[in-house]
Amino acid sequence: MFLRYLRQQREFGYPPLILGKSEEPLPGAMLFEDGRAEPGTATATAATTTSATPESAVAAPDSDGDESSAASLSELRDSVGDCRLCGLHEKRSKLVFGVGNENADLMFIGEGPGADEDRIGEPFVGKAGQLLDKILIAAGIKREDVYITNIVKCRPPGNRDPQPDEVATCNPVLKRQIELVKPRIICALGRFASQTLLKSNDGIGRLRGRWYDHGDIKLICTYHPSACLRNESYKRPVWNDFKMLRDEYRKIRSD
Ligand code: URA
Repeated sequence: MFLRYLRQQREFGYPPLILGKSEEPLPGAMLFEDGRAEPGTATATAATTTSATPESAVAAPDSDGDESSAASLSELRDSVGDCRLCGLHEKRSKLVFGVGNENADLMFIGEGPGADEDRIGEPFVGKAGQLLDKILIAAGIKREDVYITNIVKCRPPGNRDPQPDEVATCNPVLKRQIELVKPRIICALGRFASQTLLKSNDGIGRLRGRWYDHGDIKLICTYHPSACLRNESYKRPVWNDFKMLRDEYRKIRSD
């Protein structure tokens, strides 16, 4: 009887009955697009606060491929030009270099441009980007203060994973972007960016929710905003990761 009641509560989208310690509600930004409150996320795990570097983590980005000596982001962008070094250029519309504050303390790195980004030439401007904007607002982080880019700068057709040769071709550009911006914190958005930056095959569920050392930059991973749009149960862990990110970001900026 009671179980049926609980099941009905979930079906109607009510938050779970929490016996004992209750979780703080998700901020408005993490609610559904139609304004409905988020149903229970009883199975979502809380982020850990363990600071650790797993065996698989690398201390610094790859140095494979050509090094870039561009002295500024605009010089780097010019040097990339109308890049045709890998097959991704064949189907792309616009190369999506990166956007934001050149001296950002915080850098977000996604996987690669989607259809909207390919059309507009800017990262995270589609639906996933709009959710990222909302999460940033909820965390009190201004989009114009951060720098946003992707592992690969051209859209993989049909949003497939970038191939190893495509990642390797783009790597010197990403590496130089990181060197020039000199962020104190990197947030890898989604499985692909997290696995690439950490050189790990672990799933994002294992990688997220903790701090890594990426050279002298602190790195955290979380689910991709588009995963949250597909599966509501990712919203709670994403918000937990963003709270860790926000706290560290505040600490760094008050130093
Ligand atoms: N997904 C990404 O990983 N990057 C973007 O720029 C847009 C969607």
